[in-house]
Amino acid sequence: MIEKIEQLNSEVESAVITGIEQLENFRLKFLSKKGALNDLFEAFKDVPKESKREVGQRLNVLKAKIEELYFSHEEALTSINIKNQDIPDITLPEIPDQAGSLHPLTLVRNRITEIFARMGFSSSEGPEIESDWYNFSALNFAENHPAREMQDTFFVSKGKSQKEDMLLRTHTSNVQIRLMEITKPPLRSIMIGRVFRNEAISARAHCQFHQVEGLYVDKNVSFKDLKDTLLYFSREMFGNDTRIRLRPSYFPFTEPSAEIDISCFICKGDGCNICKHSGWVEIAGSGMVDPDVLENCGIDSNEYTGFAFGMGIERIAMLKYDVKDIRLFFDNDVRFLKQFKGI
Ligand code: DAH
Repeated sequence: MIEKIEQLNSEVESAVITGIEQLENFRLKFLSKKGALNDLFEAFKDVPKESKREVGQRLNVLKAKIEELYFSHEEALTSINIKNQDIPDITLPEIPDQAGSLHPLTLVRNRITEIFARMGFSSSEGPEIESDWYNFSALNFAENHPAREMQDTFFVSKGKSQKEDMLLRTHTSNVQIRLMEITKPPLRSIMIGRVFRNEAISARAHCQFHQVEGLYVDKNVSFKDLKDTLLYFSREMFGNDTRIRLRPSYFPFTEPSAEIDISCFICKGDGCNICKHSGWVEIAGSGMVDPDVLENCGIDSNEYTGFAFGMGIERIAMLKYDVKDIRLFFDNDVRFLKQFKGI
């Protein structure tokens, strides 16, 4: 009996298992009911009493060895099989491991929205195809005012009267009117959107760009509120040591009106290319909402005052990211777009 055990042991040791089929043969030969190991256990019954202990021990050692061999090979072979299935066709071209990123104008727009939200400004939107009334007349542009000419309007269709002419909005100030028509003061909102002007496309100008408009109407809103709001915005956007400068200006819909400059955040006022060696960079138009505009929207100008401002998103993005050509924002070249991670 001992001899038979030794014999089976050496057979087991010399068995070669390199595939699923050989593994199954191994099982049938040694481990199955009709296998060699079972035969020996059958024969164990007839082993004389005095040898039972030794033979039994050897049989158990052999059994453990066979099982160990079988299960370790089974695990190795089946896990290789699963891995093989996971390997894709390596002759296929590589899938680029690239996530998309937000457009730089979206990043700037989100940042602007977030800064004004902290000051209690909601966000509003309005139509891009607009009537003359909302884009010009309600904003106090007189019928033949040269300021209409200055905005290089794309007209869409002619109306029965000038006020009904349809056009692509030249600024986001149309949303001021729409908002004041439907909302009673106090109201505090920014309006971001695309605007259009019939300009020759160059590195510095485009026929489409984006503006952010701001409007605050309430009792006792003053010019100081306008100044403080734009100073806070400028510091959040361009850095804590930013200063602002207001220059007298003219817009038909504000009185008084001011152009807002920020101290150059690149050279800190020493003079550089960005600020054209003046130390200041223009970022916005602004002013106190003209009482006539409030009245056009049904708001009592004796009771309420307001301030408004408007600025170009591309301009802010160009300053922040040092982009020298406005056309890059509309070319959709991934090599340009993927550079912007946040501000
Ligand atoms: N709408 C003006 C433009 O496109 C910008 C602007 C100036 C908006 C002054 C305003 C404002 O609300 O108060 O040039």
